[in-house]
Amino acid sequence: MRNEAEKQDEEFGQSAASPAAADDFAAFDDAAEAAKEQVERDEKAEADKQLPPDPDALLEVRHLKKYFSVKKTITGKTTVWLRAVDDVSVKLHAGETIGIVGESGCGKTTFGRTVLKLYQPTEGQIFFEGKDIAAYKPAQMRPLRTKMQIIFQDPYSSLPPRSTVGGILSEPVKVHKIVPPEQIKDYVLNIMDQCGLRDYYYERYPHEFSGGQRQRICIARALTVNPKLIVCDEPVSALDVSIQAQIINLLKRLQNTMGLTYLFISHDLSVVKYISDKIGVMYLGSMVEFGSKEEIFSNPLHPYTQALFSAVPNPNPDVKMNRIVLKGDIPSPANPPAGCKFHTRCPKAKEICSHIAPVYKEYAPGHFAACHCYSQED
Ligand SMILES: Nc1ncnc2c1ncn2[C@@H]1O[C@H](COP(=O)(O)OP(=O)(O)OP(=O)(O)O)[C@@H](O)[C@H]1O
Ligand code: SF4
Ligand SMILES: [Mg+2]
Repeated sequence: MRNEAEKQDEEFGQSAASPAAADDFAAFDDAAEAAKEQVERDEKAEADKQLPPDPDALLEVRHLKKYFSVKKTITGKTTVWLRAVDDVSVKLHAGETIGIVGESGCGKTTFGRTVLKLYQPTEGQIFFEGKDIAAYKPAQMRPLRTKMQIIFQDPYSSLPPRSTVGGILSEPVKVHKIVPPEQIKDYVLNIMDQCGLRDYYYERYPHEFSGGQRQRICIARALTVNPKLIVCDEPVSALDVSIQAQIINLLKRLQNTMGLTYLFISHDLSVVKYISDKIGVMYLGSMVEFGSKEEIFSNPLHPYTQALFSAVPNPNPDVKMNRIVLKGDIPSPANPPAGCKFHTRCPKAKEICSHIAPVYKEYAPGHFAACHCYSQED
């Protein structure tokens, strides 16, 4: 059966090779179009700024941008910006997990860190519990730090080597005065127990543990301050495959018992499929598709999502894998292609794609995508 994208593709008509299509764009001014698109995007962001935050969302990110200055003049003026996160919007409800996927360098980590204000956003709004924290100063963020935590990929470098497990886990409890001093040890031991860490580990040092155990210590450390939102940045990719499942199951169990909300960053689509309720697909700093896990896996709209997910092994041996291999390297986010950023690698690219950026739109309830194959419909 042909999928929706293929049907739309046919309806979309002219291919890039078509001379008629090429003629349409022969005198096209890409720079002028890019400037016009930027104005339209800025106007949309400005209009969205006036909207109240969604009262049901724990986290609502609107038009988030994080640009890094990568080239400056001798007077310090930036001449080249690297657009690590470029106009990303997403909502996260309490108790759910959103998986963020995409190839290396597409901006997943930068997005997670910017949401937590570990990086100052270049532009955009970040509503946490209904308050826009995007412009909050470090002092304003301090009381929120306990509610927003991060678990990193590398459990080896993220634990101080000279502190005992007890010392590492007690420190944030003391600093944030989570419980009275005389209750700290019992409180920490209880969290260790929930994370599958034995009592006697309290006196031990991180170097005495395996990667999986260290990641449990990192998870326990994040939990000591009673967080609501945890950004999990590739939390299992440094671990052995056999240990990965244990850590993922631990994260799932903790979510159920503690009502945690996860932004789960990973390039491992099988892991993301297992843990996520919704999935966001990033390419070169932009969210190209977003939807429920079921929609993204069964009806991916964007050609990039289709290619990415075609590589996920199917447990049913009767289902033939139809892998789409993307050609070419990922362009630099400091100099992204004009039009659709994916057009240089897209197997379905048309002439229009290299000139005009597709709009990110909702095509079915909760299912968003940015691709000209679909925008021709409305
Ligand atoms: N502090 C920084 N200064 C300049 N550029 C940066 C900085 N941090 C990240 N970048 C660039 O931003 C882009 C996105 O990087 P990021 O680490 O967010 O990607 P990622 O999707 O997490 O990749 P990976 O899967 O490899 O972890 C990359 O081009 C990266 O080189
Ligand atoms: S808009 Fe982008 S993703 Fe869609 S067909 Fe064109 S190049 Fe491919
Ligand atoms: Mg990363």
